[in-house]
Amino acid sequence: MTLTTRRFLQTAGLLIAGLVLSACGKKEPAPDTTASPAASAAASAPAPAKKVYVVGTDAAYAPFESQNEKAEIVGFDIDVVKAVADKAGLEVKFVNTPWEGIFNTLQQGDRDLLVSAITITDERKQSMDFTAPYFDAQQLIAVKGNSKVAKFDDLKKLKVGVQTGTTGDEAVSKLLGKTNTNIKRFESTPLALKELEAGGVDAVVADNGVVINYLANNTTAKFKAVADKSFQPEQYGIAVKKGNTELLEKLNKGLADIKADGTYDKVYAKYFGAPAAAAGAAVAAAKAGASAASK
Ligand code: ARG
Repeated sequence: MTLTTRRFLQTAGLLIAGLVLSACGKKEPAPDTTASPAASAAASAPAPAKKVYVVGTDAAYAPFESQNEKAEIVGFDIDVVKAVADKAGLEVKFVNTPWEGIFNTLQQGDRDLLVSAITITDERKQSMDFTAPYFDAQQLIAVKGNSKVAKFDDLKKLKVGVQTGTTGDEAVSKLLGKTNTNIKRFESTPLALKELEAGGVDAVVADNGVVINYLANNTTAKFKAVADKSFQPEQYGIAVKKGNTELLEKLNKGLADIKADGTYDKVYAKYFGAPAAAAGAAVAAAKAGASAASK
């Protein structure tokens, strides 16, 4: 190709260049990176901006969501949503969002979806939509190793820490009475567990996965876990704004896909060490952990 032809193609823009070249039926080398401004503008202009779905998560809930040393949001929920988004062809971005007010961010349109170990409850279903469940959970009691607490009922006269507005808060509110000043409400579950260590509360009630993870990673705290059959079985779902069926369907399809092709099991095994195959594996693990800890 002569120098003048080349110049012509560069200034005419790559789109036209492509048409000309394909019309000639010739394979040409990759576009010159020193192309004129006009040519590079033409090359980068056409791609329409892809929607990035903003995912809200309260990243203080390991192993489901937390921030690593590099302040990246990581965890089981994150990997699940990434895999689901991958299948659904959605681009996602995770934004750390305080639990308090997290549901309002859907209403306001600040977040498109929420993944935050959120238990699907009838009450929450009134104001948002949930995907199919992706994880089984149950409340678990954390106490100091020398505590006499053996069952949920034993907490009646004690100071109990919970994360405000969680299903743990609900369960304890039912047992002690919502306005009982013995209920100490914290903005995060780790803060409640720190208070248990400091002796400010006698017990903390939270999701089994988080309690077990905390016990395993904070052995100096010398906590033990106490399970109780009276806690209702819970299931986590991904939440979207009420009525956003388009997104909900995509997420449900992605979720079904990762369950069917083994991706979900791989993610599960990465965080919980065993395949999710057996129903209620997490609950079983919680109970095993609880009895082992109390021996
Ligand atoms: N599963 C409980 C609930 O839905 C607690 C979830 C708290 N999640 C979090 N990332 N802080 O109420």
